[in-house]
Amino acid sequence: MKVVFELSGEHPSLSPSEVIHCLKSEGVSYRYMDIFGSFLLVNIEGRADIKKVSQRLALSHLIDIYLFSTKPYLRHLLKKARKTKVDIEGSFRVRCENRSNKKLRSIDLEKKLGGIYADKHDVNLTNPDTEIRLLLSEELWFVGKKLFEVNRSQYEKRKANFRPFFLPISMHPRLARCMVNLSEVKAREKLLDPFCGTGGILIEAGLIGAEVMGSDIERWIAEGCKKNLRYYGIKGFEIENVDVGEIDIFGKVDAVVTDFPYGRASTTKKEPIEKLYKRAFLSISNVLKSGKKLVCAIPSIELIKIGCDYMDLVEVHPFRVHGNLTRYICIFTK
Ligand SMILES: C[S@@+](CC[C@H](N)C(=O)[O-])C[C@H]1O[C@@H](n2cnc3c(N)ncnc32)[C@H](O)[C@@H]1O
Repeated sequence: MKVVFELSGEHPSLSPSEVIHCLKSEGVSYRYMDIFGSFLLVNIEGRADIKKVSQRLALSHLIDIYLFSTKPYLRHLLKKARKTKVDIEGSFRVRCENRSNKKLRSIDLEKKLGGIYADKHDVNLTNPDTEIRLLLSEELWFVGKKLFEVNRSQYEKRKANFRPFFLPISMHPRLARCMVNLSEVKAREKLLDPFCGTGGILIEAGLIGAEVMGSDIERWIAEGCKKNLRYYGIKGFEIENVDVGEIDIFGKVDAVVTDFPYGRASTTKKEPIEKLYKRAFLSISNVLKSGKKLVCAIPSIELIKIGCDYMDLVEVHPFRVHGNLTRYICIFTK
């Protein structure tokens, strides 16, 4: 089965990487994949549980079944659409997503493509049984059938200021979920955030069914984190008020996902940052099971290099938070 992931486009490398790691964590194997702008085409082997993948993702909008593709011109599209048999159950509508540089009116293309199917099927623009997706990239145009929609509004509703315990140190829940997905943690596996702060990462990991553990050097922050986890109904968590050097109390874990302190809003307790990062990488590499992943947000290339002395760096995604503040989302393996 071929499927197309309509990536959110908010980050060029994180969005496709999230899909790839999500497929792996849900045990979905694929023959190949190819990217066309912000559309990721994946040839999936056998019958896979794509619904579960759609429930985990943060940086995609939709997942569609691939029907056919054409050169990026209207006459090619219509010619191929007339020749290709498409199964439509009940009523339908066509929606066009133009991510190409061509100045085309989506509504005109929707009407033209819809006209081909309207002979045999009822059009329902508000609540159709089937949604045909027309996806325009620079190189190719795709036609697909909507399979699943990612619930992106849930992440807005969980933003830090809506939680019972709030500090302005927590990243956006979409980025937190994406980082959890990059770690490939599975439901019921153990995930540790050794700099848990208010719990933004642990909330997202707990909601996909991971067993979550966290530590923070500040007692009042660790207590606030517990409050937040309870608020979102996360069960069986373990939060301790300890220094990162003491995280071996949690035993071995399947994933570590964390946003390192960077010394401005989030304190390092006056410890020089290089020293803290060395201690942290050492402790993390001791608690991670072999072959498992650390996914972390780090504020500079120099600090990433420290991590390379302890684990293998496999991916780096620069992420502009705001103004001149860039964080690097890194994946290390043990
Ligand atoms: C960037 S914040 C984490 C934000 C968190 N992801 C959230 O959602 O709120 C880093 C946290 O690390 C904690 N911290 C700083 N030094 C620490 C240390 N040596 N051991 C454990 N925690 C520490 C800080 O108190 C702070 O809460």
